Amino acid sequence: MGIACSDGVNAPPAVTDISAVAWHRTRWLIENRYPETARVWSSKIFARRMRGREAIATDHRSLQSSNSFPSLSRPPVRRALEYFGPERATTAERVSRPIRIDLGPGLPDLAAFPIKAWLAALRSAASGLSSSDLGHPDGAGHSELRDVLAAYLVRVRGAATGAADLTIVGGVTDGIGRACRALRRSGVRAIAVEDPGWERLRGCALDAGLKIIPVSVDDQGLCVEQLETYPVRAVILGPAHQFPTGVALSTARRAELLDWARRVDGLILEDDYDAEFRYDRRAIGAMQGADPGHVALFGSVSKTLSPAVRIGWMLTPSSWTDAIRATESSLTGPPILDQLAFAALLKSGRYDHHLRRSRMRYRIRRDRLVSALARSLPDVHISGIAAGLHVVAQLDRAINYRLAVNLAAAEGLRIVRLGGFRVHRIDAPDGLVLGYGNLADSAVETGVSMLANILEQAGTVSDTRAGVQ
Ligand SMILES: Cc1ncc(COP(=O)(O)O)c(C=O)c1O
Repeated sequence: MGIACSDGVNAPPAVTDISAVAWHRTRWLIENRYPETARVWSSKIFARRMRGREAIATDHRSLQSSNSFPSLSRPPVRRALEYFGPERATTAERVSRPIRIDLGPGLPDLAAFPIKAWLAALRSAASGLSSSDLGHPDGAGHSELRDVLAAYLVRVRGAATGAADLTIVGGVTDGIGRACRALRRSGVRAIAVEDPGWERLRGCALDAGLKIIPVSVDDQGLCVEQLETYPVRAVILGPAHQFPTGVALSTARRAELLDWARRVDGLILEDDYDAEFRYDRRAIGAMQGADPGHVALFGSVSKTLSPAVRIGWMLTPSSWTDAIRATESSLTGPPILDQLAFAALLKSGRYDHHLRRSRMRYRIRRDRLVSALARSLPDVHISGIAAGLHVVAQLDRAINYRLAVNLAAAEGLRIVRLGGFRVHRIDAPDGLVLGYGNLADSAVETGVSMLANILEQAGTVSDTRAGVQ
């Protein structure tokens, strides 16, 4: 096994508690942006805000009823409440303000789930079941799925594999969680993550007891030079399509990262979550194919079929496979019938067919979204469009994106801020991460024109500056 246990010794300042970061960020913002509010808000209120943003209504009431706080009609307080209001609708709000149009990232086209092909695959899997298939399952996954999937990953992702190191898991997050637990058990204390990045991957590492070391992402992907300054030997990243920026790791950075991994005898956890969807060029092959001894590849059907299916895979370096599998009891993993149905879907060629059709549909929808944005928002910069199911939109104008998210929610439009995915660099430019995977074609123009109106309002708040989150 590659990684020894010394990486925590001179560890850099690490973020071990996301809510602590959020706490300090909030304090900083209130103190700098709303000094009057900062004077009247007690630490208790700050703490409550950070524990549950949904407590906003309660805070309204407690602020109003308390003699020590000014009336809510006072602009700084009200504006601060807008500023720190919930970005995601709470259960209560979902009832009163249902999402009419969802421009947030996350989902593939759920209405296009290939239900007929899945039913046929299930039927074929069930009719081919042997009695041994009905015994205790192999924790590595059913051998039939591992064989077909290994061939698929070699063909489609350029992976270097034998089924021996392929494990079927319940999704990328499940696989990365297991790998993080194995790292922790082997004595590793910290892992580098992309900043900005998907909070659930950071959560996997934190849950496993690892400290996270946020490393910046620029227009070439993860800043490997920065990574090299930390005494860390494991990193989680999405080289084919970084989330949320949509950047692909440049060829030069890929080479640097692989050099780094060899030098420190480290482990690269490659999140290959939506690599099947690349529109304008050939798909970028998985890094794992270039160095299977230092890269573990994680993928799933969450973006190709549905996140509800919970089938994923991890292809691990041989030296790590047993340790990672050993983090679970042998009975975990997706149900055998589902695994065999997915194997049947792959074998029949209907999975490839579904991907081809999806790619065409998403490409048309992406073009439609990009054109609508350009028409309605002449100062918009759109990036990350070459692949995946979302784009990043940033405006030249000063926009209070946090306020925009809240105004949009009040109108039943879900939008998501780029800044919400950051751990550090609170002064970095903000923007929106706009998803189009599960957006009805007919809703594209309406959603964008609602968005344009909202950004108009969010840009008129006098004391906002682009970049402040
Ligand atoms: C960055 C990123 N990685 C991975 C995944 C997939 O996770 P899972 O396979 O656990 O559903 C997603 C899904 O939304 C994602 O956004």
